[in-house]
Formats: sequence, C-alpha cells, structure tokens
Amino acid sequence: MSLTFPISVSEDIAIRLAGAADSKTLFGLVERNRLRLGRHLPWVERTISTRQVSAFLRIASRQHAAGDGFHACIEVAGQLVGMIGLHPIDWLNRSVALGYWIDHGCQGRGVVTACCREVVRICFEHYDLHRVEIRCATTNRRSCAVARRLGFRREGVLRGAHLVGGRYLDMVVYGKLKGSTA
Ligand SMILES: CC(C)(COP(=O)(O)OP(=O)(O)OC[C@H]1O[C@@H](n2cnc3c(N)ncnc32)[C@H](O)[C@@H]1OP(=O)(O)O)[C@@H](O)C(=O)NCCC(=O)NCCS
Repeated sequence: MSLTFPISVSEDIAIRLAGAADSKTLFGLVERNRLRLGRHLPWVERTISTRQVSAFLRIASRQHAAGDGFHACIEVAGQLVGMIGLHPIDWLNRSVALGYWIDHGCQGRGVVTACCREVVRICFEHYDLHRVEIRCATTNRRSCAVARRLGFRREGVLRGAHLVGGRYLDMVVYGKLKGSTA
C-alpha cells in the first residue's frame, strides 16, 4: 500500500507533507504560540528564525524519502494550523512515537485527535508497525487527553526524562499495540 499525501481526515481537515515553502508560515505559528508550545516541546526555544524550521523540514523530507516516517502539516479549511509527525521508526522493534502541536485558535475542536487517529492507522497498516507510543509530560493535560481519547494505554511514567526550558519533566508513556484495543 503506498502512502499518498494529502490525506483527507474529515471534510475540512487534511494532512499533507510540509515543503520548504511552508517554513515562513510554520515559523509564524511557532512565534504566535511560543509560550504555550515552549512549555512542552524542547525544540521551540531553539527555533528562533525560519532557518531552524527549514533545516527541520529538510530532515523530515529525507526521513519520508527513506520510508522512515514523516512530518506533515495539519490543515483546517485549507489553512496550515499545526503539525503531526512520527519520530524516526525503531525498525528493530517495529515501534514509533507520535508528535503533534496545533495553533491556539484551533485547539479544543478535536482536530489533533482526528489526525492522530489517521496517523495511527497509517503506522499499523502502511508501515506495519507493532507499537505506537505517545509520550507527554505528566502536566500536559491536553496531550494526555489526546492519548486517552485514542484508546492508548497509560503504561508508566519516565521520571525527569525530557529537558524542556531548563526543567526536567516526568513523561507519561502511552502505548497502543497492533490488533489490540490498547
Ligand atoms: C496537545 C495539543 C496538540 C492538544 O490539542 P487539543 O486541541 O486539546 O486536542 P484535540 O484537537 O484532539 O481537541 C480535543 C478537544 O476538543 C474537544 N472536541 C470537540 N469536538 C471533538 C471531537 N469530535 N473529537 C474529539 N474531541 C473533540 C474535546 O472535548 C477537547 O476539548 P477539552 O480539552 O476542552 O475537553 C495542544 O494542546 C498543543 O498544541 N499543545 C502544545 C504542544 C504539545 O503539547 N504537543 C504534544 C507534546 S506530547
């Protein structure tokens, strides 16, 4: 089964591969959401211009070309509002972790849950993976809620596992296995 973008998630939500031309818009979104994103995502404080966004998009493009996962733009009614992606796939264990963020203005509408549901399906059906993970800070109520809404199982807490904004955060690991309900 080939993976063809854009992927329609619902009538007005789609995910599509990000290209160099998206750097400016993505950087604008990071700037507008810097405080909120920076609480949870370690790369935000290092993203100080479109240069870092472009560099990330080049890595993401190579990742996709190598068949090793992807990072995609989330669009609502044709507007770029966030990103969803896969960390590099652990092929030895057929396992991967999801990442995502969305503009404040689109929060609270179920957009991320809907996109994640589609990406999880892709992980199991297209990449034939055995395990998908979501790791989020214990304090990241909204991200934990996304994992729960998707039926992921809360498997444990990794203490002080992520350094974000100079603080070590405890990370909850949520997991879902292929063919199981969680
Ligand atoms: C984490 C993050 C992506 C979650 O965004 P979100 O908008 O809360 O998630 P969803 O798009 O799935 O929306 C869920 C909300 O929409 C509501 N909703 C409305 N319609 C819905 C539907 N059809 N399906 C699911 N939820 C729906 C839910 O009730 C929930 O709102 P609530 O929390 O007020 O109850 C966002 O908070 C974010 O960008 N945070 C900063 C970056 C980050 O933490 N990334 C994750 C790192 S692990």
